[in-house]
Amino acid sequence: MRQSITFLLICVLLLSGCSSIHTEAANGGSDYSPLIIAHRGASAVEPEHTFLSYDQAIDDEADYIEIDLRRTADGELVAMHDETVDRTTDGKGLVEELTLKKVKALDAGEGQTVPTMEEILKRYGSEVHYYIETREDDKGKLVMEKQLLQLLKQYAIPQDQVILQSFSKDSINALHELDPELTLVQLLKKKDVEQLDREDLQAIKDIAIGVGIYAGILEESVVDLIQNHKLEIHAYYRGDEKEWTEKMLQYEVDGIFSDDPAFLANKMEIKE
Ligand code: G3P
Ligand code: CA
Repeated sequence: MRQSITFLLICVLLLSGCSSIHTEAANGGSDYSPLIIAHRGASAVEPEHTFLSYDQAIDDEADYIEIDLRRTADGELVAMHDETVDRTTDGKGLVEELTLKKVKALDAGEGQTVPTMEEILKRYGSEVHYYIETREDDKGKLVMEKQLLQLLKQYAIPQDQVILQSFSKDSINALHELDPELTLVQLLKKKDVEQLDREDLQAIKDIAIGVGIYAGILEESVVDLIQNHKLEIHAYYRGDEKEWTEKMLQYEVDGIFSDDPAFLANKMEIKE
């Protein structure tokens, strides 16, 4: 009787292993360890895109700090996600209509100022890895690619410590043209992912190491299609990290944007 129960248990365990989305065998062992990308710094813990949030992310041993870039009216690159300063500071207005002086006068939370890209590079130098998002300006023009690369060069940031990402295909193409050795990630909207075909994937693969997609559209067919083309998947979420982390780990994406790198690292440890 005891032998039959043991046999049954083994069968149940084997079957449950087979139904997981990616088995250990499929991934070449149990060494799955996605990149931890601190989304706007440790933005669940400290005000996003401030030195406090980047410092926290570094303390929490995130692999990369993510930085969204915008350009001010007088041409400075600043760390800001939204097109306006309204949500994250005590001011109002479009970033690209404000001078740097006006932006620097704002409180970005806990008395912090909005950092410029140059201040970030001055502060952290080559001590950290950067995951930087470029954008077109509000009129759809490319305004930051050359300037960003010049800054990275000026502060002697090794190329293998930088990933550049954008939803703008033009921006990704421009970066690649400026320097074919750059490590690039093409961010894709839900609609793009739904229409992805082999040609699109090949075009991305010609210049980028992977794609950035919303965790809400992760499903086996999408993951297989992208990873079978030897492209990495870096996933981001909106809302509650606790709800999304399980899904991103379950699909074994290659990189995870996290608002709380310590939480993610802990989750990954528990899973090992
Ligand atoms: O950079 C990936 C992810 O950050 C894209 O979303 O809107 O937070 O920049 P968003
Ligand atoms: Ca971003």
